[in-house]
Amino acid sequence: MQKKKVFVTRKIPAKGIELLRKHFLVKVYPKDQVIPRKELLKEVKHCDALLSLLTEKIDEEVLSANPDLKVVSNYAVGYDNIDVKAATAKGIPVCNTPGVLENAVAEHTFALLMALCKRITEADQFVRAGKYKRWEPMLLLGTELEGKTIGIIGLGRIGAGVAERAGKGMGVKVLYHDIKRNKEFEKTYQAKFVSKEDLLKRSDFVSLHVPLLPSTMHLIGKKELAMMKKTAYLINTSRGQVVDEKALVEALKKKQIAGAGLDVYEHEPALTPGLIKLKNVVLTPHTASATIEARTAMSELAAQNIIDVLQGRKAKFTVNPEVYARKHK
Ligand code: DGY
Repeated sequence: MQKKKVFVTRKIPAKGIELLRKHFLVKVYPKDQVIPRKELLKEVKHCDALLSLLTEKIDEEVLSANPDLKVVSNYAVGYDNIDVKAATAKGIPVCNTPGVLENAVAEHTFALLMALCKRITEADQFVRAGKYKRWEPMLLLGTELEGKTIGIIGLGRIGAGVAERAGKGMGVKVLYHDIKRNKEFEKTYQAKFVSKEDLLKRSDFVSLHVPLLPSTMHLIGKKELAMMKKTAYLINTSRGQVVDEKALVEALKKKQIAGAGLDVYEHEPALTPGLIKLKNVVLTPHTASATIEARTAMSELAAQNIIDVLQGRKAKFTVNPEVYARKHK
């Protein structure tokens, strides 16, 4: 029997590719760049499974290019790059990689928070610029985390990981807001469930951990930023469009809030004009999950999702499991 074919849109850690190669013919897009749309449309025609990244738009056009496409496995926990509705209509399972990158992202959230509170990037630039001449009593004063309040918006696995580290390890009080209340979590972490408005008004640090949905688009805009404390920091490791970046730049310029730590951007990879000029921001290039551990595990999971579907099983991490109820292709 002819081996099934898998197309991987860009090089990912070897573990996942090796796993796939045990069962299938695997083609990896050879250039270390985002695959051009034309190439993607060409390649998808010849594969049974597509392993995609969040940099590719997997829309109706891509999904329709191959009536025999059996699964799309995204190398990410987020899947806002995929038209899940269109995939569901075609009976194509869409898979993701939850459960393996939460530590990395929760840690990165703290890296951004610490960098802001301790003014690490400013201090680094100061030293590199040869400005460090002597110890100074008032030089680069920062702020401590202990005793402060963090407000977590979105209590999924990552939000909970941030809450755990804040509450248990750092003496930071935890407020959270989510569409669902979690009383068990509240007991374990002495966390308080509050409205979004309350959270914004009371938190010293606001950290965003929601998926990108129509309801979370610009969840933080001009009105919300105006509710935050002047001394508060905003951290976003979720999706850029959750924040109205123009409004954020304005708020930061006016010192309406103290600063922001961003790993994701509204028009990624482009930045809203004015953002990079600001001293009170720390910026990373969507690398919150970029640890060897997380990315290796993500590659294995993305591969396993494909193996399961192509071997006739339900993949464990399918975002549209209703497709399995229908007759399988
Ligand atoms: C995800 O998995 O959704 C992350 O944003 C990738 O780093």
